[in-house]
Amino acid sequence: MLFNAKRQISVRTIGDPVLSRIADPVLTVDAETVRLAAEMIDAMNVFNGIGLAAPQYGVPKRMVVIDVPAESVEGTPSEGEEKLIPRMPLVLINPEILSYSTRTASRDEGCLSVPDVFAPVERPEKVVLRSATLDGDVIECECGGLLGRCIQHELDHLDGKLFTDRLAPEVAREVAGELNMLRKNGAKKSFLRTKKVK
Ligand code: NI
Repeated sequence: MLFNAKRQISVRTIGDPVLSRIADPVLTVDAETVRLAAEMIDAMNVFNGIGLAAPQYGVPKRMVVIDVPAESVEGTPSEGEEKLIPRMPLVLINPEILSYSTRTASRDEGCLSVPDVFAPVERPEKVVLRSATLDGDVIECECGGLLGRCIQHELDHLDGKLFTDRLAPEVAREVAGELNMLRKNGAKKSFLRTKKVK
């Protein structure tokens, strides 16, 4: 009999090739998809994230989980914030961005795959998201605020991009040393960031 059995939960870190490849579409939503979604939500919670893309969990599929808090909404909520925040945590299957606003905004971002690095990223303020969900319906709405940013960040993961690939040159220079250190130390741990949970 096992006492104090702890399970381990891991996400991949910068330098892992799975984070820089184009992820494959989800062809069928089956029991395996449902199980993966549940595990990804679990991992997102354990590491206190507001989003996690399947490649970060080691699975090169076009699937994302997000959990953007209601408190993040500032001013008038966007259509997406109004519709989607009550459904969090939300599983997005084969999500795509149909259009981007021309107005951009800059805000600090971090990533569970890039521990302890936070840096400003300029992105379009709003995007129109289209995605299937785990329940089989299709969402199409304009997402702004932290939700819009989170969606752009997570969808980047599906195309092999990290937020650190989108930094202004002067910011990129500032964090280059830290990123190299993360890659170097990550390689020694097979690019796994692991937490033990009860
Ligand atoms: Ni990320």
